[in-house]
Amino acid sequence: MKRTKIAQVLSAGQPEETHQICGWVRTRRDSKQGFSFIEMNDGSCMHGLQVIVDADVPGFSEIHKLITTGASLRVAGKLQESPGKGQRVEMLATEIELFGTADADTYPLQKKRHSFEFLREIAHLRPRTNTFGAITRVRNVLSAGVHNFFQERGFNYIQTPVITTSDCEGAGEMFQVTTLDLERLAQVKTEIDFSQDFFGKKASLTVSGQLEAEIFACSVGDCYTFGPTFRAENSNTTRHLAEFWMIEPEMPFYDLNDNMELAEEFIQYLMKTVLEKAPADLEFFNQRIEKTVLETIHQIAETPFERVPYTTAIEILTSCDEKFEYPVEWGNDLQSEHERFLTEKHFKKPIILFDYPRSIKPFYMRCNDDGKTVRAMDVLVPRIGEIIGGSQREERLDVLEARMKECDLDPEEYWWYLDLRRFGSVPHSGFGLGFERIVQLVTGMQNIRDCIPFPRTPKNASF
Ligand code: 4AD
Ligand code: MG
Repeated sequence: MKRTKIAQVLSAGQPEETHQICGWVRTRRDSKQGFSFIEMNDGSCMHGLQVIVDADVPGFSEIHKLITTGASLRVAGKLQESPGKGQRVEMLATEIELFGTADADTYPLQKKRHSFEFLREIAHLRPRTNTFGAITRVRNVLSAGVHNFFQERGFNYIQTPVITTSDCEGAGEMFQVTTLDLERLAQVKTEIDFSQDFFGKKASLTVSGQLEAEIFACSVGDCYTFGPTFRAENSNTTRHLAEFWMIEPEMPFYDLNDNMELAEEFIQYLMKTVLEKAPADLEFFNQRIEKTVLETIHQIAETPFERVPYTTAIEILTSCDEKFEYPVEWGNDLQSEHERFLTEKHFKKPIILFDYPRSIKPFYMRCNDDGKTVRAMDVLVPRIGEIIGGSQREERLDVLEARMKECDLDPEEYWWYLDLRRFGSVPHSGFGLGFERIVQLVTGMQNIRDCIPFPRTPKNASF
């Protein structure tokens, strides 16, 4: 079936052209003169196309009453200039066919505003709404932007494993993978030895592809991963998911400054991409979801990021007048309220915090000579807080081994990682960008659960 997408009709269609469109009914209105106005949408763009169907179009009278919100149709017809506001063309139908009905009493998406909580319960239908159609298209534009950015710079795209035996972040937030029939074992009350479960080893879902990306950075050079990662943290916040997508570039011969430069360039590139490729969707978010979205995107795209040592940030936070819920103290991780104060009220722009206390960062970060800090960096942006976490990696074998012991990690388990330091070790760096957080940033959505097609959070994985 040859069809023209509605986005194409609306942007390039000319009066007198004939087209065939397929999609879902948003509204139907009948005129007293005997014709109907049907607004149809096929998800290709924000707007629907107005279709006018005369009562004598073949077959129309039989299906007329079944053309309700959510029903699916094929319509062929001629375009004509539209007298209505906000649209250039409309379609005068010559053929109409009903594919599927949507019973008005039971179809959950009626023509009214639904709460995002409600829509999360019907994740199979929510992409049909304006908001989720727009989020889907923006996610797509950003995904392509991610690949274009790295491909234009000669990076290799690497696929890292989802099932792994290493806990990259060392935070104990791994989902364990098991081949055991837990229900049966519970019935027979057998002691379970998980440690020997998968291929003779304890296996988990990955929290990050970084360690494997380092292997490729230290062989083929600049590379990046873009895949799902999992965190079994029980955080019921608007910024955390149990399953999220992460982009992790890893570069040999990069120090922390090079790393910061790339991170800034990357975020600014994504902002410019979305402004260029999804202007209508951004306009919608700005009007309907968060009125500062466009301003924020422009600001991030155009303003150089402030680089601030962690210690300076702590000084700012402890000497300001703001009342925080959580205490600020050198050696503690920053809470979201602190991050937002720094980006929204103090610096009023994105910032890169660096040189964090080593006690709150993972084993692989390069230790500074002060013995207290590591070459870590977090990029913080207004409204979201941390959007990137990264570091220069520890390339000195002896320092890394000592640090692993300090972090209670068994160097034997990481023999392959240590080999990268035994044979031809090089300074190298990388970072991870949380994909849903950038979607949240550019759409203005309040909750990260609405920035991924199928959110997985504590007590929320319906299918
Ligand atoms: O700061 P994180 O934990 O860093 C790493 O995993 C490093 N191994 C990355 C690297 O250097 N290659 O996570 C990186 C980013 C965070 O800044 C945040 O944007 C996102 O991943 N993130 C989450 N997004 C949604 N839900 C969660 N639970 C997230 N945890 C981290
Ligand atoms: Mg982090």
